[in-house]
Amino acid sequence: MSSAASFDATALKRNFPIFERQIDGAPLHYLDSANTSQKPVEVIEAIDRFTRTAYAPINRSAYRLAAEATDTYEAARRNVARFVNARHADEIVFTKNATEALNIVAQSWGGAHLGEGDVVVLTEMEHHANIVPWHLLHERAGIELRWLPITADGRLDVTDLDAVLDGAKVFAFTAMSNVLGTLNPVAELCAAAHAHGATAVVDACQYVPHNATDVQAWDADFIAFSSHKMCGPSGIGALWGRAELLDRTPPLLGGGNMIADVRTDGFTTAPVPAKFEAGTQAIIEAVGFGAAVDFMRDIGMDRVHAHEQELTRYALKVLPERFGADIRIHGPADAEARGGVLSFAFRDLHPHDVSQVLDQRNVCVRAGHHCAKPLMRVLDVAATVRASWYLYNDRDDIDALADALDSAADIFGPSL
Ligand SMILES: Cc1ncc(COP(=O)(O)O)c(C=O)c1O
Repeated sequence: MSSAASFDATALKRNFPIFERQIDGAPLHYLDSANTSQKPVEVIEAIDRFTRTAYAPINRSAYRLAAEATDTYEAARRNVARFVNARHADEIVFTKNATEALNIVAQSWGGAHLGEGDVVVLTEMEHHANIVPWHLLHERAGIELRWLPITADGRLDVTDLDAVLDGAKVFAFTAMSNVLGTLNPVAELCAAAHAHGATAVVDACQYVPHNATDVQAWDADFIAFSSHKMCGPSGIGALWGRAELLDRTPPLLGGGNMIADVRTDGFTTAPVPAKFEAGTQAIIEAVGFGAAVDFMRDIGMDRVHAHEQELTRYALKVLPERFGADIRIHGPADAEARGGVLSFAFRDLHPHDVSQVLDQRNVCVRAGHHCAKPLMRVLDVAATVRASWYLYNDRDDIDALADALDSAADIFGPSL
């Protein structure tokens, strides 16, 4: 595949066995990839092959099978590191998910380096995973939270960024909103953080699966992401951190694998990244994560992004054309400013009712607060309907969404 124009999502869909499934004799329109993504046969087979022929413990036993499994696990780490352009594979810590990665940053790094009155700046568009760990640190260590607001069209309001960052120790923000779809100017925000002497923490959970990611070009300090949103298995994610910062971060969990020595009077930690990988790791999942990265790299992340933007442009045109004032789309009107996430209100219907009707047409969307309750309060809604697309979606899926919204309109009758 060589250009966005030749991107054939319909053909690509055939790599994803889930789409062979029909419900009530009709195809699935999976529009919930911001929640979790479907898995290609390449990932499923890599997991199957490893489990059948090469599974063994890592980092412990000396026999060949175990040494091979350790090499495979470490190869997955190198692969993930290369995918985000880390300087060194050891800057990638495998975690359970992005949530655990952000907890290591807030609770372990923050717990060691932040104290009473230290200011952490968050934005109003954060996922709970980048809010609650900081609330926990507030309760434990007395840090203060300051919030960067959003504009009426769902972008970060950077008008007073310098004043908001003044005196801050941390600026933790999402690279892309999981509700509004807004793509944030990560490199500029990292530079602004550093200009104020603050550490830049990037929640890249919605970004890495959809865009070419370069932590060095961003000049970030920590980033977090999850395998399950990028065609890989659930149960594994990654924390990337600058080596010198990870060195100065205490472990979140203690146990086997994360130690250099244990005595009756104490212990010393293993070097990074083992220091953060206590207990038996998600070995099989790491293999799947590596295979997902291979799969995405082969397709090309610029092409994935271009394809999703084409679908976003299409949805931003078709849905208002068809439904006019009956649909209210949150976030930037400009497709270039967003990824493949579209949250909306439909008439005065409750998002859960809308999603139930869409489900009758096999259109899978998420309705709810999307783990972003502070943002819901800013938008002055309790919930939204969220459709989100990925490399395997095509215009048919957006058309199916529009047709299903028509049936919702029919079922619930005219607007009041
Ligand atoms: C922006 C963002 N951050 C963090 C998370 C948490 O990811 P996970 O549940 O994989 O830990 C999500 C998941 O929806 C997300 O969308």
